Order: sequence, then C-alpha cells, then structure tokens
Amino acid sequence: MKIIRITDGEQKKRIARTVLEALTDWFEVTESREAYIRESEDQIFFEAEQDGQAIGFLCLKETGRSTVELAVMGIRKEYHRQGAGKALVQAAKACAAAAGYDFMQVKTVRMGCYEDYDCTNRFYLDVGFKELEVFPTYWDEANPCQVYVLSLKDAGSMTELIMNRRSYRGKYKPDKVPRKDLAEIMKAGLAAPSGCNKQTTSLIAVDDEALLNRLRQVIDPPVAETAPAMICVLTRRINAYRDRCFATQDYSAAIENMLLAITAMGYQSCWYEGHITDEDRIGDRIAEILGVPDGYELVCILPVGIGEDTPSVPKKRLFEERAWINGFGAGHRVEEF
Ligand SMILES: Cc1cc2nc3c(=O)[nH]c(=O)nc-3n(C[C@H](O)[C@H](O)[C@H](O)COP(=O)(O)O)c2cc1C
Repeated sequence: MKIIRITDGEQKKRIARTVLEALTDWFEVTESREAYIRESEDQIFFEAEQDGQAIGFLCLKETGRSTVELAVMGIRKEYHRQGAGKALVQAAKACAAAAGYDFMQVKTVRMGCYEDYDCTNRFYLDVGFKELEVFPTYWDEANPCQVYVLSLKDAGSMTELIMNRRSYRGKYKPDKVPRKDLAEIMKAGLAAPSGCNKQTTSLIAVDDEALLNRLRQVIDPPVAETAPAMICVLTRRINAYRDRCFATQDYSAAIENMLLAITAMGYQSCWYEGHITDEDRIGDRIAEILGVPDGYELVCILPVGIGEDTPSVPKKRLFEERAWINGFGAGHRVEEF
C-alpha cells in the first residue's frame, strides 16, 4: 500500500468519487457527498493506493492561520483495519506540520449514537486526536457534533519523518508541483543553521518545462529526467572567520532540511551532488543556463515531484556499529528499548 500526494484537481475528484460512492453507510446523502467531492479539488489531498487502485483518501482544508481540518476521509470497507487510515493521517500530519500549522481538527458524530460512527471515534482517538468540545445542534439533534483536535507539535512525528526519508531514483508523475510548495521547501532550506550565520547557500527552483528540458540536455547520463521541478543549490565560499569556510556544511544542512520538507509534503527527491560536480562539471553548465553569476558554485540538484513508485530502502550499517554511549566501541552499547 502506498500513500501518494495528489495535486491534479480532476484526479482528486475522481478518487474521492470512487471511494465515497462505495461508502454509503457514512456518506449516504447525495448532496453532501457531492459537496465533499467538489471541494476536494482545492484541498491538500492524499490517496492510499494498493495494486494500482485507490482504496482511500484524505483531504485537509485550512480553517484558521494555525489550524487545518481533516475535511473528509474515506477508506473502502474491505480495506478497513489494514493500516491505510493511519498511514493517511500520518502523511497528513507530517504535511500540515511542515506547512507551519499547529493543530489539526476533525468533526464527527459523537460517540454512543451509531455503531459506524463509534468506529470512527475510536479511530481518531487511536491516531492521537483529543476531545475538544461537543456541539449538540451543530448539524442536528440526532447527530451531535464531536470536535477533536490534534497538536502537530509532536516530536515523535518529526523522528518518524526523518526515518522515512529515502533517496528516490525512479520515474515521476507529470503532476506540477505548486509554486507555494516549492517556496515552502526553499524556506525550509534557508531556515537551516550556517557557520557564523554567513548564509552562504542560495537556491533556484525550476518548474518551467522549456527550461527543464534545457537542463535535462546537459544532465548526461540522465537522472531525474521526468521530475516536474528541480531545486538547484548554490554556494559561495565566504570565510566565517580567519581562513575557516563552512560553506559545505551550510549547504548540506540546507539540503537535508529541504529533503525532509519534500518528504513531509508527500513528494520524492534525491541529493544529486556526486553526479553534477564530477569532472564533466554538469553543475557549471546548469549554472550557465540559469544565469548564475561568478562567485557562486552550483553543487547539487534536488528533483521534486510525486514518485510513480516507492523508493528502495538502502542497506545501512547496524546502529551499534556506529553509535555508542559514554565512550567508543563495543563496551559502550546503547541499551535499546
Ligand atoms: C553528498 C552527497 C552526494 C550524493 N550524490 C548522489 C548522486 O550524485 N547520485 C545519487 O544517485 N545519489 C546521491 N546521493 C544520495 C546517496 O546515494 C544516498 O543518500 C545514500 O545511498 C543513502 O540512501 P538514503 O538517502 O535513501 O538513506 C548523495 C548523497 C550525499 C549526502
């Protein structure tokens, strides 16, 4: 099962329709079901996919500067209790937190009224929502409205995000990456620490198809040739003090921040540095096309887009071979809980 961020409005409505029309126990009123489908077009949208089929989806809408609402969510009944709902909420939490929201709210019919909605209540409690308030007549007296809230300032989810980031080298879907998302990713990059605050890193996002095609022509052998957007990382060798220059550390911190933001928003990427800074100096040719002035070096490209596949998981050395406590080596193993 894969969780995929969908950005195309028509595709969102198609998926929402397929799932909601199979869930008439919850979405029986045609008018409100159609409203959910229509409104999904402009909302942050995640699909749960299995064997190429949409088995569920989730939409987020902004309800205040600090809050998003889980506007609608549906999982086809035959896929209930298999982790799709949790995975969707996890992706939505990471995405909303990365976009700067502090809270997520969701409304449902209060526990104790209908068996189907009791399952929904238990699900929300299970994924971390807390009861905020009940509004007995918000919908009508037979359907008291329970509002749940979830804090997005949860350190646990940040660690999960870090552990889930992977280098992706597969094909990308053609869906455009909204400019707002590219800006958000670059802001995350520039929020990174830099030695003596010299801020030696600069960034250029490219989403113009003609310009991307010109870049693709110089990236030989090709990588990320299907990505709908790319962020180019530039560095300047400014000394922090005496002859100490931390430009490499500065841009590395910026790249990692961006990779995490990209992951949190449901996109894929890969840190392409070796490939473009080798003897054939692909980075210099990209810089020339983009009009980068002297004094800046283009050191890395980060493709951004929705992956057609899931990234492969690389083999990593064991934790106990690389991390210890109070000293170096086997006698200093960290107890694992
Ligand atoms: C400095 C640096 C340069 C990299 N250059 C490339 C590259 O040119 N091509 C590539 O496919 N991956 C490149 N990577 C990605 C690594 O291969 C990848 O991080 C590593 O295999 C571990 O996989 P993971 O990112 O999924 O944990 C680079 C990573 C770093 C930190």
